[in-house]
Amino acid sequence: MDKLKIRGGCTLEGEIRVSGAKNAALPILCAALLTERTLSLTNVPRLMDVRTMTKLLAQMGVEVSAKDDRVELRAAKLTNPEAPYEMVKTMRASVLVLGPLLARAGRARVSLPGGCAIGSRPVDQHLKGLQAMGATIAVEHGYMEARAERLRGARIVMDMVTVTGTENLMLAATLADGTTLIENAAREPEVVDLAHCLAAMGAKIEGAGSDAIRVEGVRALRGAEYRVMPDRIETGTYLAAVAATGGKVKLRDAAPATLDVTLEKLREAGATIRAGDNHIEIEADGRPHSVSVRTAPYPGFATDMQAQFMALAAIGDGTAVITETIFENRFMHALELQRLGAEIAIQGNSAVVSGVPRLQGATVMATDLRASAGLVIAGLIADGETVVDRIYHLDRGYEALETKLGALGARIERLK
Ligand code: EPU
Repeated sequence: MDKLKIRGGCTLEGEIRVSGAKNAALPILCAALLTERTLSLTNVPRLMDVRTMTKLLAQMGVEVSAKDDRVELRAAKLTNPEAPYEMVKTMRASVLVLGPLLARAGRARVSLPGGCAIGSRPVDQHLKGLQAMGATIAVEHGYMEARAERLRGARIVMDMVTVTGTENLMLAATLADGTTLIENAAREPEVVDLAHCLAAMGAKIEGAGSDAIRVEGVRALRGAEYRVMPDRIETGTYLAAVAATGGKVKLRDAAPATLDVTLEKLREAGATIRAGDNHIEIEADGRPHSVSVRTAPYPGFATDMQAQFMALAAIGDGTAVITETIFENRFMHALELQRLGAEIAIQGNSAVVSGVPRLQGATVMATDLRASAGLVIAGLIADGETVVDRIYHLDRGYEALETKLGALGARIERLK
């Protein structure tokens, strides 16, 4: 199993490019299921999760070709509308095939995702919405067996804000008979990106980016060319790294407008930030100020940035309170950060982080994707050597992480 070896203590300097957004690319790849024509995507990040999704689509009968950041998909026929447990268990986003399969093929067999390192993460809202649209869904032998002659439009009020739940229903509604209204919808930029891609394919969608999305179903969708949005979490991760190590970095091909709260919090930590239309420059020097954050659905502070900010707070000049409101078990990195000398007390869904002047290198274990990113940031600021074990989590969601950090002057190496 690969590991990352990091020698801490370097400041980061230079310029790197932000990749396409994992969490936009995954639902957009599933949009290919909705049409028999070719969906041609660019700026698709080269990640394990993207490979898992294209493999999943391929075994359903979708023709897939991928080269560099371009992926072309053609679902002329869906021979096998099924998502097996082996794939769903490695990537929960596989559940995003459920809505489009039902809409296009009238049936779907998708494994229930099961447990997860960051919380229980049920899919009841996905099912509730599809049932309101006329689907019958039974859970048998660990699989969701779903059927519908033709989905029909419905008014669906989500019990809580769910990103992939909103996306699944939006995908399904594009081919439904009549109009679907999704209320209490997720407002994440990735939902908006999916809506833009679907619109390019001929879907009729209004309100994406607000909490009420209206989809008027059409008979068929066409092929399209679409460029996936920049990854705001990858961007935020590099920005947090620079805020922690000090230095001066420019991130190209970014989408600053999707990072308002993150940029505000980094400024509060003492960093100087200049944002253009599609680039961000950050400059930081000395010990960061302690900054408290509370995760919330967009436009609030992203849960996917929480671990990185905990690493930053670990060396802050005071006390920070990090509160997680989205997932019930997303503090696994706190224990690993403690191994590096961080002072963190967990109280319910809050972590009270008393900043220390220095961390010390040690071997730590990654438990999920963003936790791993937090540990890498901690390794960059720790004295001596840090080894981050189980980095397959990082490979799921960060394209060429060690190459990009290396280009900024970090001493980081992959151990095979
Ligand atoms: N929830 C339910 N029932 C549902 C759906 C969600 O109770 O049917 C709950 C969840 O348990 C959670 C909350 O609602 O407590 C929000 O979860 P959400 O459904 O929004 O999460 P998700 O769609 O499964 C996406 C991202 C995650 C990100 C969350 C929150 C993708 C592929 N994944 O997950 O990204 O943390 O939204 O923003 O878009 C990551 O990239 O590392 C990652 C975990």
